[in-house]
Amino acid sequence: MAAEIARAAALLRAGELVAFPTETVYGLGANAADATAVAKIFAAKGRPADHPLIVHLPSAAHLPRWAREAPAEAERLAAAFWPGPLTLILKRQANVPDAVTGGQDTVGLRVPDHPLALALLAVFDGGVAAPSANRFGRISPTTAAHVREEFGDRAPLVLDGGPCPVGIESTILDLSSGAPRLLRPGAISAADIARVLGRTPAIAAPHADAPRASGMLAAHYAPRTPLQQVSSDGLLFALRDALVAGERVAVLAPTAQAISHDLVIWKQAPAEPAGFARALYASLRELDALGCARILVQQPPSSEAWLAINDRLRRAAAGSGADDET
Ligand code: TXA
Ligand code: MG
Repeated sequence: MAAEIARAAALLRAGELVAFPTETVYGLGANAADATAVAKIFAAKGRPADHPLIVHLPSAAHLPRWAREAPAEAERLAAAFWPGPLTLILKRQANVPDAVTGGQDTVGLRVPDHPLALALLAVFDGGVAAPSANRFGRISPTTAAHVREEFGDRAPLVLDGGPCPVGIESTILDLSSGAPRLLRPGAISAADIARVLGRTPAIAAPHADAPRASGMLAAHYAPRTPLQQVSSDGLLFALRDALVAGERVAVLAPTAQAISHDLVIWKQAPAEPAGFARALYASLRELDALGCARILVQQPPSSEAWLAINDRLRRAAAGSGADDET
């Protein structure tokens, strides 16, 4: 693997893209200091160029090279959670390319907690801009095979670190404008952040003057098959309707198969949030590939521990069924 990491770092230095595992999802990386290299990310993803990217750092010691101000709260959160699935939005340094920030005065930074990502970043010794390694609007990849599926013949070098242990994207916290605001929920919760800061971050509602975050678009992380969230009772009704209509349906539920029928493909999901999150995107990809009339997801509890998962399921439902996202 050392040789492959050296090769990946050399590709980054040469302005090429490299896909790599993080603890959350696979990223599609480019040298964050090289605007031409960063532009290749947008072209590969089919992503609008005004959507900002997260810069991945080898360690918190690199933070001052990218953020011109690091409030004490940022330092405390970095000390508590980095390496880890927390992205901090801070005022950017002047040298950060506009291609990375979407022209905003802020930059998203994190140190990922994955041995391959950390090894790559340490050898590269710089910032790597990387969105999730999927085509824009589609389900984030949590294995190297998912990345290859997304890009086919045009796939970059993919470092294979096996399945991502967290499985959903990092928590995004905006510290650039006074009171901390949670822009995207993730494995690190508002309560985890409050324990370190002694105050609870505001939960940002997506609105026009919020910093742009494509993870905040309603239609995101979406399968091509229409996806519907249902209660456990609702699941039985929806299944009955589908069978009456003669439709094939896929089910993702935390319980064992309740109905045995040729038209029903049942995937049992882990019943606790960390396991559910870890398996979620791979399960959605697998069920999406079956070409069923719909995917029925039995809605998890609405408690805090399931917040990030419910957020992703809501977006998956909102964007599902479309041939392509814009
Ligand atoms: O877990 C993750 O965060 C993964 C891995 C690869 O690190 N990355 C990821 O990147 O999810 P992406 O591009 O798919 O989502 C990053 C989110 C986007 O919604 C982007 O708009 C937001 O971060 N973001 C980045 N910089 C920002 C900024 N300066 N202000 C507001 N939002 C920002
Ligand atoms: Mg993404």
